[in-house]
Amino acid sequence: MEDLGAVVWPPEPVRTGRLVVRASEIRDRAAFIELLASPEVHAYLGGPRPRDELEREMPGAPERWPGSFVVELDGSMIGQILLRRATGHRRPAAAGKIDLGYLFLPRAWGFGYAAEACAAALGWLAGALPGEPVVLTTQSANVGSMRLAAKLGFTEVERFEAWGAEQWLGMRSPATPSD
Ligand SMILES: CC(C)(COP(=O)(O)OP(=O)(O)OC[C@H]1O[C@@H](n2cnc3c(N)ncnc32)[C@H](O)[C@@H]1OP(=O)(O)O)[C@@H](O)C(=O)NCCC(=O)NCCS
Repeated sequence: MEDLGAVVWPPEPVRTGRLVVRASEIRDRAAFIELLASPEVHAYLGGPRPRDELEREMPGAPERWPGSFVVELDGSMIGQILLRRATGHRRPAAAGKIDLGYLFLPRAWGFGYAAEACAAALGWLAGALPGEPVVLTTQSANVGSMRLAAKLGFTEVERFEAWGAEQWLGMRSPATPSD
């Protein structure tokens, strides 16, 4: 995976009805550590990272690269959205395409925040890099993620076995002028 490369970064924050979708800042560090160390968040993502390792390694402003968005609710980070170039993707249908990932703190699940924020990030992408399809890989057992992918307009390309589980590869076509 690579970052998005030549886009204007940090971007103008995107405001939705309830959220702000923006680049990371130093004040997000504690929430990033909470997110990356959470066993619940990483149940389908190969497990969490040790908190002390994250505390040691994380620089002041975490994950500050083109395509890494923080989602903010009432002034605090509740999640991360990743848009990356899937250069080394193991499935040819996804290789080289832009890949969407999302991680939200468990206390923010079940309110539609992820759907609202991801739609905003995809809207930003359509302006920054127009005409690109977006892919998404998730374990098919990750029911919340599968539902979110469908809501965002991803449709199945294929299922495949990897990392000891069945994976779902979805794709979302770029918006057409009539959308
Ligand atoms: C995947 C993940 C982001 C989904 O979060 P989520 O909160 O379930 O997703 P949404 O934003 O779509 O919210 C949907 C829920 O909010 C509810 N909701 C409540 N108020 C709502 C509102 N105003 N608008 C929309 N939905 C609302 C919906 O009914 C739905 O609930 P349901 O799942 O019980 O039907 C979250 O589970 C997560 O971070 N998981 C860990 C990381 C992960 O596995 N990522 C996937 C791999 S990239």
